[in-house]
Amino acid sequence: MTNFDERAKDWDSDPKKVERARVVAEVIRKTIPLTREMKTLEYGCGTGLLSFALQADLGQITLADTSQGMLDVLNEKIAAAGMTNMHSLRLDLAVDAPPNDKFDLTYSLLTLHHIEDPKEILKKFHALLEPSGILCIADLDKEDGSFHTDGTTDVHLGFERAELQRWVEDAGFSGVKFSTAFEIKKKIDDAEKIFPVFLLVARKA
Ligand SMILES: C[S@@+](CC[C@H](N)C(=O)[O-])C[C@H]1O[C@@H](n2cnc3c(N)ncnc32)[C@H](O)[C@@H]1O
Repeated sequence: MTNFDERAKDWDSDPKKVERARVVAEVIRKTIPLTREMKTLEYGCGTGLLSFALQADLGQITLADTSQGMLDVLNEKIAAAGMTNMHSLRLDLAVDAPPNDKFDLTYSLLTLHHIEDPKEILKKFHALLEPSGILCIADLDKEDGSFHTDGTTDVHLGFERAELQRWVEDAGFSGVKFSTAFEIKKKIDDAEKIFPVFLLVARKA
């Protein structure tokens, strides 16, 4: 069982996680022209907070994650809400065969820093997109290692925007744009610390 499997049941009970997904969805909506014809992939969907916040503006959504615990919670939510445009998929693009589908939009929230080889995943995202498809990644700006307070160590400590832009361009994307989508506030050693979350948007060249 992974750390995320264990955390899945309580994930949505944290109002801060729900709020950040809501805000990031709002920023995505303002940044990208979404349509109900768009076939989309959320990679590292967790319990699906971001896709639930976006689903009314999208077509078919594939929600992929490596954690079965997260997907179990997600499947219960999809069933309870009677969603017909949301489908879960257990997928690790680092090792599994990619889905046969191609997507108009791929998005991801706070997942890239958990992926061992982000450069390779960016190439896989590129291959999974339709021509002119859009990539949208929200994740932490470079941080000092204090973000994960639960002892998690096998993560990237956020990303330098310029370096990530190079990786995204090397993977075959163009028109890379960044904005600051959200700020995560955490109390660390009695002081409030702010961790900015960027939104990167790029197009398959
Ligand atoms: C910090 S959580 C974010 C979940 C969700 N995006 C949210 O914002 O609520 C990171 C998610 O990435 C998933 N994950 C970690 N490594 C992954 C990988 N290699 N491929 C796909 N998902 C992964 C975890 O299982 C977890 O659900």
